[in-house]
Amino acid sequence: MCGIIGYVGARPCTNLLYEGLRKLEYRGYDSAGVSVLSGGRIEVVRAVGNMDSLERELKGNGYSGARLGLGHTRWATHGRPSTENAHPHSDCTGEISIVLNGIIENYVQLRESLSADGHEFTSETDAEVVAHLIEKHYDGDLLEAVRLTYGDISGHFAFCAIHSGHPELIAGARKECPLLIGVGEGEAFVASAIPAFLSETREVMVIGDEELFRITPEGAEVMDLQKNVLDREQTRVHWDVDAAEKGGFETFMRKEIYEQPDSLADTIAGRLPDSGGVVLDEMLIGDDVLADIDKVYIVACGTSYHAGMVGRYVLENWANVAVELDIASEFRYREPVLSPSTLVVGISQSGETADTLAAMRQARKLGAKVLAITNIMGSQATRDADGIIYTRAGLEIGVAATKSHIAQIAAIHLLALYLAQVRGTLTAAQIGAIAAELKEIPELLRRYLKHESATHEIAKRYYQQPFFLFLGRGVGLPVCLEGALKLKEISYIPTEAYAAGEMKHGPIALLDKGSPVVVVATDGHVYDKVVSNIEEVRARQAAVIAVATEGNEGIAAYSDDVMFVPRTSEMLSPLISVVPLQLLAYHIAQLKGCNVDQPRNLAKTVTVE
Ligand code: M6R
Repeated sequence: MCGIIGYVGARPCTNLLYEGLRKLEYRGYDSAGVSVLSGGRIEVVRAVGNMDSLERELKGNGYSGARLGLGHTRWATHGRPSTENAHPHSDCTGEISIVLNGIIENYVQLRESLSADGHEFTSETDAEVVAHLIEKHYDGDLLEAVRLTYGDISGHFAFCAIHSGHPELIAGARKECPLLIGVGEGEAFVASAIPAFLSETREVMVIGDEELFRITPEGAEVMDLQKNVLDREQTRVHWDVDAAEKGGFETFMRKEIYEQPDSLADTIAGRLPDSGGVVLDEMLIGDDVLADIDKVYIVACGTSYHAGMVGRYVLENWANVAVELDIASEFRYREPVLSPSTLVVGISQSGETADTLAAMRQARKLGAKVLAITNIMGSQATRDADGIIYTRAGLEIGVAATKSHIAQIAAIHLLALYLAQVRGTLTAAQIGAIAAELKEIPELLRRYLKHESATHEIAKRYYQQPFFLFLGRGVGLPVCLEGALKLKEISYIPTEAYAAGEMKHGPIALLDKGSPVVVVATDGHVYDKVVSNIEEVRARQAAVIAVATEGNEGIAAYSDDVMFVPRTSEMLSPLISVVPLQLLAYHIAQLKGCNVDQPRNLAKTVTVE
């Protein structure tokens, strides 16, 4: 996440940058900062916390003569929220300033080699290497230094740079992270999202993936990586400000569903290096301890609990370790049997859920090692844990969790691979093969999301039904539980989710002619069993809506409707098979006219028991 903005033109820019950042605050608010060229020097103002903190810092310090500047609002990934880690970052001379959104995967190696060459770092961030690389490459041509820097770094990112010797120039580049130019009269903006400059100009120029740009008061140019200027038209946007903050999507939930490929890519970035193995910088629990654990105990609530349930299958399968799982509000009032060889994993998007925190604290008191999987750097869960795996889903605004769930499942996969590595239950080649497949999934998800209209059509056929049953087996079980939770929380339709094999022990009595039954029937070792359960449902004349693997033409014979998802190996399949269920819930709720971003009676973070 993170939001970035730049301005060059004839107007005083400090306030323009500040107002632009206010519009980008939804992208993160751990810290914020601006750098402006004033009196021939680059002046940097940064503050920990949200934009109110930056506003206080800027009071009486507005650099009214500045006409060139950058701004940043941060969602911490590398380095805790602090003034030193806040952007903009500078080179050793203070002549160069940069802002970055994204992750530099090879920053450790770059930092070591730059330090060996005498560069002095002042932050713990990955982003600071960009300022020092530009300094290293700079020879009077800022754009060329940006281009060479782009060639040095790997990962996914968008960055902008200014130099005190170029008072009318911002140069930068993007790879996979968003960056757009706003072109005005004698001025130009660059930003992570259109709302940042929408009140100033509606003329937008897109910077494509793996492209460079330069903006000056005279206009904007977008270039390929050889600096050939590309023929790029400006388009006029007609969004209102509210739509713009949602990136053109009608709701935050839909926007977040579409951000899932990035959420997954960010969460695994740098943790599965091409050189092999699994790297978890914040694990902090020693490999010797992890090698000896005899049980993993997962505690969480709601959607996070469902991610934990995926963990049960994956950890048993890859790391050959016993796994127990409990809802945090139950765990905390039981007498769980734990020992120093138990690893308790607390999963919480917010890192603030009262029951999950209480369960983690109790586990620690009972002598277990505690690992937090959370999306929020510095949250309470990180302080109550011995080790952490951060999900990197960015800020999630919709109350119904979507992109954070995908990131949690990915974090679980990383944990299982890491344990398999230290316990020797998978070979390096097996880990490498799984890692390679995991890295392909963001692209599969992007491809899948282009065809979501099929889900919409299915929703139209069923949205007036009074009840839905969800069935799944194996890793399909947590997926169907999550699909049922999504549907009930945003559409208020009663749902039941069950292990498919257990249906005949009770829930089958609920079925009637035409009752919709959503079945997760992706390919896997229990597929034939799921088909038998589908037959049982059809014998009661219920309507089957199946989630199945692309290429499985045979499923049509057993189903009224099918939502096909791209093929993956079984243990990775929840990363994709849950998405059609999120979309089904979403479209049904929209058709019923519900407020999907703020469903009744719910809160994003549940800090009470
Ligand atoms: O912040 P947490 O992950 O600890 O929150 C736990 C649940 O409250 C949360 O997952 C909730 O179930 C979702 N918002 C539902 O979509």
